[in-house]
Amino acid sequence: MESSGRLRLSLEDLRPATLDGIVEQAGAIARLDRIARAVTAGRLLPPNLLFHGPPGVGKTTAARAYARAILGEAWEFSFHQLDASDDRSLEVLRGRIVPQTRTAPIRNAALRIFFFDEADALTAEEQGALRPALEGGDGTTVMILACNRLNRIAEPIQSRCTVLEFGPVSEAGIRRILADAIPKLGIRIEDATVQSVVTRSNHSPREAIRLLLEEAAFVSLDSTERT
Ligand SMILES: Nc1ncnc2c1ncn2[C@@H]1O[C@H](COP(=O)(O)OP(=O)(O)OP(=O)(O)O)[C@@H](O)[C@H]1O
Ligand SMILES: [Mg+2]
Repeated sequence: MESSGRLRLSLEDLRPATLDGIVEQAGAIARLDRIARAVTAGRLLPPNLLFHGPPGVGKTTAARAYARAILGEAWEFSFHQLDASDDRSLEVLRGRIVPQTRTAPIRNAALRIFFFDEADALTAEEQGALRPALEGGDGTTVMILACNRLNRIAEPIQSRCTVLEFGPVSEAGIRRILADAIPKLGIRIEDATVQSVVTRSNHSPREAIRLLLEEAAFVSLDSTERT
């Protein structure tokens, strides 16, 4: 089972680390890149951001890459991700998270980024509790929110963010992502299998990679059984 180490690659291993590694999403990425450059050059206070679009098309990936671009090495301790699985109850939002966004960045980082994934899972009241975190104003704390359904995000939250849309990825885009991932698996995948993964992925890179990893596991199972 020599190749199993590489086959046990995860979605996380295949996540692009930089904005230019993200396939498609050209409008959102170009805008993020411009903002990152202006912030880094000290010409713009970093805005709060709100990403919306279907699952698995690059929102979390873009948030992390953008954070790396503007934080540099400080990204390790200055980027805080809060998923729906974390405790984001009203009490925690009011008592801990929002007060945290009011404190100065740690070590001598210029700013801190709080990334709220699946923000549409927050109730209207919870979104209301988050509002003060979007009103810091001195540019040392930035919020990035991500959601699937923009219409589940309250108007006052939307209006305090730069809103960027992420769309489904074309079949050509999915193909590029797969072509990039396959060599990392160190395994040969038939063209027909790639085609089937493209079709079944339904324009979601996450789904495509998940299906690819599954196919790769079958291929290697076959080949170890044959030898
Ligand atoms: N546009 C893209 N280009 C390259 N890889 C991508 C792209 N979108 C997604 N991926 C791959 O799919 C995985 C999941 O993407 P990501 O976590 O960014 O999705 P998401 O848009 O945040 O989804 P959700 O709405 O479910 O949170 C990433 O680890 C990455 O490998
Ligand atoms: Mg996400």
